[in-house]
Amino acid sequence: MIRSLIASRALFRLAIALPAIIMLTRYFSVQGGSGHLLQSSGEWAARMLIVTLAVTPIRLLLKSQHWFQPWSMWLFKRRRDLGLAAFLYALLHLGAYLIRQSSLNVILYELQFIEYVLGWVALASMLILAVLSNDRAIHHLGTAWKKVQRLVYVAAICVFLHWLWIKLDNVPALLHFAPLAVLEAYRLWYNFARPSLRHPSG
Ligand code: HEM
Repeated sequence: MIRSLIASRALFRLAIALPAIIMLTRYFSVQGGSGHLLQSSGEWAARMLIVTLAVTPIRLLLKSQHWFQPWSMWLFKRRRDLGLAAFLYALLHLGAYLIRQSSLNVILYELQFIEYVLGWVALASMLILAVLSNDRAIHHLGTAWKKVQRLVYVAAICVFLHWLWIKLDNVPALLHFAPLAVLEAYRLWYNFARPSLRHPSG
């Protein structure tokens, strides 16, 4: 029973949609809730992006652990859902922003500020990734897909700086991205500098 619940793709999708359900319920039941919607959707978009990026280094880090073997594939199979969720939360964030500003002039005016430009660049990168993350596009792009995938790092860096600069309090952005920075440093070390790579015969 528990095994089939854990394996259920639908249940996993419901779990990652839960924050959206809660924030939209609050938005429609509380007057003037667009500020809360804007903040929570931004945070959840960032969290989903961070978790999506963390999947590969976590799999590398724990790959020799026996207990982790079944979870490794479980995580890998859910990576695309997490990436898509990040994009959908970012769209919700954009929707809340458009509702709050409700004037094209203000939106264009804010484009002179780097923190807003970073938000738009992050969203554009996530849009390209979302459009090209289906089996047909991946098959069609062949080896070029790997290059397209690097856009996820552009998105993550832009989101980090967007968050850092758009809020007075830098602590939440730093706390969210610090674990990812550590995991990415491990991944780089693993791929390029671990001792067995330097002395393959040893
Ligand atoms: C479409 C371009 C974007 C615009 C115009 C935009 C706009 C904003 C604004 C106005 C805020 C400040 C909210 C407030 O303090 O009331 C904000 C915060 C934030 N945004 Fe964006 N954003 C954009 C894209 C993104 C994307 C793509 C992400 C993540 C994937 C993101 C993540 C965040 C986060 C984490 C915060 C801080 C939320 C908080 O804790 O208050 N934004 N954004």
